Amino acid sequence: MTEFRFPDNFLWGAATAAYQIEGAARDDGRGESIWDTFSRTPGKVHAGHTGDVACDHYHRYADDVAMMAELGLQAYRFSVSWPRIQPDGSGPVNPRGLDFYDRLTDALLGRGIDPIITLYHWDLPQTLQDQGGWTKRDTAEHFATYASAMYARLGDRVGTWTTLNEPWCSAYLGYGNGVHAPGVQDPGAAFSAVHHLLLAHGLAVQALRAGGAGRVGVTLNPADVRPADPNSAADAAAARLVDGLHNRIFLDPLLVGGYPDDVREHVARIVEPTFIEDGDEKIIAAPIDLLGINYYAPTYVAGRPDGAGGGGAYPGTEGAVQFLAPVGPLTDMGWMIEPAGLTRLLERIATDYPAVPLLITENGAAFPDKTADPTTPLQDSDRIAYLDGHLRAAHEAIARGVDLRGYLVWSLLDNFEWAEGYRKRFGIVHVDYLTQRRTPKSSARWYQEVISRNGL
Ligand code: FCB
Repeated sequence: MTEFRFPDNFLWGAATAAYQIEGAARDDGRGESIWDTFSRTPGKVHAGHTGDVACDHYHRYADDVAMMAELGLQAYRFSVSWPRIQPDGSGPVNPRGLDFYDRLTDALLGRGIDPIITLYHWDLPQTLQDQGGWTKRDTAEHFATYASAMYARLGDRVGTWTTLNEPWCSAYLGYGNGVHAPGVQDPGAAFSAVHHLLLAHGLAVQALRAGGAGRVGVTLNPADVRPADPNSAADAAAARLVDGLHNRIFLDPLLVGGYPDDVREHVARIVEPTFIEDGDEKIIAAPIDLLGINYYAPTYVAGRPDGAGGGGAYPGTEGAVQFLAPVGPLTDMGWMIEPAGLTRLLERIATDYPAVPLLITENGAAFPDKTADPTTPLQDSDRIAYLDGHLRAAHEAIARGVDLRGYLVWSLLDNFEWAEGYRKRFGIVHVDYLTQRRTPKSSARWYQEVISRNGL
C-alpha cells in the first residue's frame, strides 16, 4: 500500500546545471563565462577545481539520458550555457552551441523525458561582466535576445521555459559577499544586480511569449525565515527584514507588481536606486505560469540591537541581524535538515502569492561517500532519509491545498558544487571523476521506486 500517494500527473524528475556538469569548456566555440574566470582565480574555489571537464556531460549526454530513462525520470531540468550560444553574450549565435542543446532535447524526447530549460544558471558570458555584468541594464536586454534565440531553435520541442535560477545567489553571492562569481563585494552593486536580473526575467518573458511560448516561469530559492525566539519582537523584526531581502524583493515584483515599501526603504539607505526606471516593474510583473522553488534548509535569525550580528550575504543587516549557526542534524554542506521548513515555505508562498502553480525545481543533499570502491553502489541511506522526509513535507503541503505540480531532485549526478568544487556530492548517481564512470547510488534506486509508485 502506498502511504503517501501524489496527485495524478505529478511530475518526477531531476535537475542539473550547465557549468556544473558539461565540461567541454573550450569545445565548439564556447566563450568564457564568469565561472571560468572565477574558478581559475586562486583561492576562490576549493582546491582550485574548475568546470573544465566536470562530468563531461557534453560528450556523454546520450548515455546520461539513457540512464535517466532507466531510472524512470519523467522530466529533466537542465540549463543552457549562454556563452556556448553567444560566446560574447551578444552578437551572432554560435550554431554549434545550439546544436548541442538540440541533440540533448531530441535525446530526452526520444526517451519520453520532458525537457525543462533554465536559461540562466549563473554562467554569465565574461565579456558582459567586463562591461559591468548584472550591474548594467544592457545585460538584461542581451539576455532577452539570447532567450529569443533559444526559443527560435527549441520552442517547437521544449514546453517549459524558465528564465533565471536563484537570482538571490547571482546578486548577493556574486556582487554582495563575493563568494560566487564574479566575486564582487559591493552592497549597492548587489541591489542593482537584483533589479537587472528581475528586469532580464521580465524582458525574456516578453521575448519568449513573442516567440509563442506557452509555459514560462522562473526559479527562486525562497527562504523559510524563522525568528530564533518566536516571542521576541527584535527577532521578529530581524526575520521580517531578512524575509524582505531574500523573499519579497523577488516575489513581490514578480507576482504582485512592485517592490514592497519596507524593502525599497532599506535599499535606499544603501544605494540610490537610480537603476529602477519607470515601467520596469510592469515588465517584471508579466504573468508567469510556473514558479520554481529550490529548498534545502531553513534560516533562523535573531535581532541584535547591540551590533553583534553578521550580515553576510544580506546587505545592510550587518550589526543588526544574527544568522544562527545551524543545529544538527546537518548535511555535508553544514545545512540544517528540517523538512517541516519546506511545508511552511510552500504554504506561505501559496497563501501570499496564490495565483501561480509551484514546482520544486531543486531539493537534495550532499553527504560524503561511504565506500572506497566506486564499482559498488553507494548505500547513501542518509540521502534517502533526507529525500523521504522532504517528499513527506511536500505531500503535507499538497494535503493542505498547495498547488504543487512536481518534484525535481538535486541532483542527477555528483557535480561541480560552485565554490566547494567537487568535494561536495549531491548526486543520486555517483561520478568517479577519474574515469567518468556513473554508478547509481541506492538513493537512485529508491527514487526509481518512488516514481513508479507515484508516492512513498
Ligand atoms: C543551489 C544551486 C544548485 C546547487 C545547489 C546545491 O543553490 O541552484 O546549482 O549548487 O544549490
